[in-house]
Parts: sequence; C-alpha cells; structure tokens
Amino acid sequence: MSKTKTIFFCQNCGAQSAKWIGHCPSCGEWNTYVEEIIRRDTGKNRTPVPGKKGDSKPVLIPEVEAVAEIRIDTHNHEFNRVLGGGLVPGSLILVGGEPGIGKSTLVLQAALNLKNLKVLYVTGEESEQQIKMRAERIGIQNQQCYVLTETLTQNIFQFIEQLQPELVVIDSIQTLHTDIIDSSAGSISQIRECAAEFQKYAKQSETPVILIGHITKDGVLAGPKILEHMVDTVLQFEGERNYGYRILRAAKNRFGSTSELGIYEMQSSGLREVSNPSEILLSHREESLSGIAIAAMMEGMRPMMIETQALVSSAAYGTPQRSSTGFDSRRLNMLLAVLEKRSGFRLGVKDVFLNIAGGLRVDDPAIDLAVVSAILSSNEDIPISQNICFASEVGLSGEIRSVNRIEQRIAEADKLGFEQIFISKYNLKGVDKSKLNIEIIPVGKIEEVFGKLFT
Ligand code: TYD
Ligand code: MG
Repeated sequence: MSKTKTIFFCQNCGAQSAKWIGHCPSCGEWNTYVEEIIRRDTGKNRTPVPGKKGDSKPVLIPEVEAVAEIRIDTHNHEFNRVLGGGLVPGSLILVGGEPGIGKSTLVLQAALNLKNLKVLYVTGEESEQQIKMRAERIGIQNQQCYVLTETLTQNIFQFIEQLQPELVVIDSIQTLHTDIIDSSAGSISQIRECAAEFQKYAKQSETPVILIGHITKDGVLAGPKILEHMVDTVLQFEGERNYGYRILRAAKNRFGSTSELGIYEMQSSGLREVSNPSEILLSHREESLSGIAIAAMMEGMRPMMIETQALVSSAAYGTPQRSSTGFDSRRLNMLLAVLEKRSGFRLGVKDVFLNIAGGLRVDDPAIDLAVVSAILSSNEDIPISQNICFASEVGLSGEIRSVNRIEQRIAEADKLGFEQIFISKYNLKGVDKSKLNIEIIPVGKIEEVFGKLFT
C-alpha cells in the first residue's frame, strides 16, 4: 500500500518541511521552498539495484583487508590527474558545468577512449543520432560503447543488468526520474532519489558511475548540496564561453587532491588536452608593448606563466573607473591604494583597467607583483621586456612578500626561456640557483621594482 503526500523542499539545500516556510532554517535562503508530491512506498518495492548485496558486517580497522588501489586509466592525462590518478571502481562522480560548456563532449570523449571497457552512455537529453554525430566529430572509434536514451531509472537498471557495463555515464541527472516518487524530473526529491539509486548501484557492483549535472545561473549545481554529499567526487567544468579554454577542477574528491586541475581546448574535433598551458596563455608578440607583465603563478600543483594586461589613462569623466577581468576587483583597488599611499604614484585620478589573458580567473596572490608592474608600465608608458616575469605577493605597506612553491615557479620560468624573475628577497632561501640559467632578482619594496624596471 502506498500513500500520496506532499512535502515542501528547499531548492537550495534540500531541507524539507511539512508546510511552506519563507526562510530556510537550514541554509538561510529566502523563498526557496517548493511543494513536491512524493509517494512513499512501504519499502518493499524500492528499485532493485544490480550487484551483490547483503554481506556487510562490522570489522575492526586493523583487520580490514588492504587491497591494492585499482585505478582505471582514462587515457586522458588531464582527466586522470583531476580524478587523482584515474577512475576508482565503485565511485560516483559528478561532473557539473554550465549548459554548452562541453560536459557531454568531455565525458563522451573519455568514454570513447576507454577502448577495452564496456561503457553504457545513458542520455536523457539527446537522441542516439545526436550522440553518434558527436562521436563522429570527436573521431574516436570504439566498439564497446553503448548508447541508451532512457530516463526512467528502473528501465536503466534493467539494461544495466543485461549489459553488465564497466562504466556507466548518466547525461544528465536532472533528466532522470524514478517510479517511486511522483514529482517531476529535475525536482529535488527526484534528483536525490535517482542519485541515491546510482550510488547504491556503484557501491554494490563496483562500477564507476559518472553523473552529469547542470548548473544554475548562480553557478551552483541544480539540486546541489544534496548531490555533493552523496557523490565521491565533484568535478567542475568551466571556462569563458568566448575563449576556447576549458578548465576541469575537482571541488571535492575522496580519492585525490582538490588542488589539481586539467586544461583543455575546445576544438572542432572535440577537446584537446593542453599539457603545457604557458604556451597558450602567453601571446607571442613581435614588439614590446607597455602595460603587460608576466606572472609565474600556480594553478593547483602546476606552475604556469600568465599575462596580465593593464591600461592606465586619465579619467575621462569625473570619477575614475576601475575594472578588472579575471582578477578580484577589490584586490585591484587595494593594490592601487598601496601604490598611491605607500609609493606615491598618483593613480587616484586615473582610470585603471586590468585583464588576465586567456579568460582565466586567478586567485593566486603571487600574481600581485605582475599586476602592479603592468599598471606602472602602462602609467609610465614604458614596456617591460618580454623576458622578465614576476612571482610575489604585495602587502599593504608596499612590501614584496614571499609566496609558496617558489622553486617550481622559477623552474617553469627558466624552462620557458625567461631571462629574469623578480621574487621577494624573503623568498631567496632554499632556492638552488646552480642549475638555473635565469637571473633571480630579489626585491623588498615596490620602489625597488620600479627603479629596476623603469629608470
Ligand atoms: P556539449 O558537450 O553538448 O556541452 P554540454 O553537454 O556541457 O551542454 O558541447 C558544447 C559545445 O561544444 C557546443 O556548442 C559545440 C561545441 N563543440 C565543439 O566546438 N567541438 C566539438 O568537437 C564538439 C563535440 C562540440
Ligand atoms: Mg550535454
């Protein structure tokens, strides 16, 4: 016997309540409660999930068998790296991203690359023909990749039972629905229940499952928090729509580090792995232009060189404008205030525009000195040589501060043929200069940098 009832769900955090409330006590958001019809079954006819079950019992930690960690190589270095070394059997992975960013392409490409694994690609969004067209575009032949257009989980599990795939892809979790709940596909209760079924399936059958999830306008996964708790790994696929670069980041990873990231370039024939990001992030200019400085920054564990561009001009209107792309605008204002107050540059009456090349967003504080140098270069209208790069944070009193992983940054700059790198003088210890061709210029204050660059 089953009875129908309705529950109000917070669309933000998935909290539930018997009656409508305006302010979610759990996440603090307003007006997020929506009524959803659910039919609670008595428990007997829950979805049967394939796989072995019912042999769990309590075990002492020292007695737990240590099994060698198995990783499935996806033959995609960037994807492997972000996953922490490959797919873990039985793991549930959520790939999130804005519509059109390339999630389906990324996952299909990875699936096609897994030539000796049987893959089931379940799509609720596109037809088989569309998937085939995409596969042809990517241009990888694979005889073991099945496509299924189906949205009802019970049917999907039937096919899984017949096919016994070694990897399951669901594109997307928001299109699925399960019989045991009456609300519409994409609602919080459906997403939660469907994800729970696949979680159970992944664990019981030791099959990795990749769920693709949409992101709402605010950049959070739709039906979000609940999903993040359930899955083992949350990957975010992001990038500026107008640039070809895409970045894959791990926001949560039970099997690896979250500081890794993978870089891809969207091409007409699928995603290309970018193994040397510095090459594409630096423009190769013939002549030197003012307002450009190159920073040696770290994205995750990877050093890369990136170009910062500044334009400083007299304010056209009364109030000077400050605008930045790819860099925190509050931090830009802080750096301008430091330049004004501590180092005496009259920038208060100037418009300042800042851009990080390549459409990247940078959080690494080591980019500060490059930003400051680009601003000063544009202000003085004197170019900085293309063979110079920077890696330092700038403090509130105009001091040049040390940054982490300086050796890696210097090594990358050296490898790419830079001739000089400006670093904090407090960063010098531990740097082994013997094998380097690059000249290290230690500095302590912005004035020293200015003196070395422009006078
Ligand atoms: P898609 O993977 O469908 O994005 P999502 O699943 O995240 O919604 O594809 C995104 C875009 O990528 C689409 O506008 C077309 C483009 N694209 C290429 O430029 N090259 C390709 O080889 C493919 C398959 C897609
Ligand atoms: Mg898609």
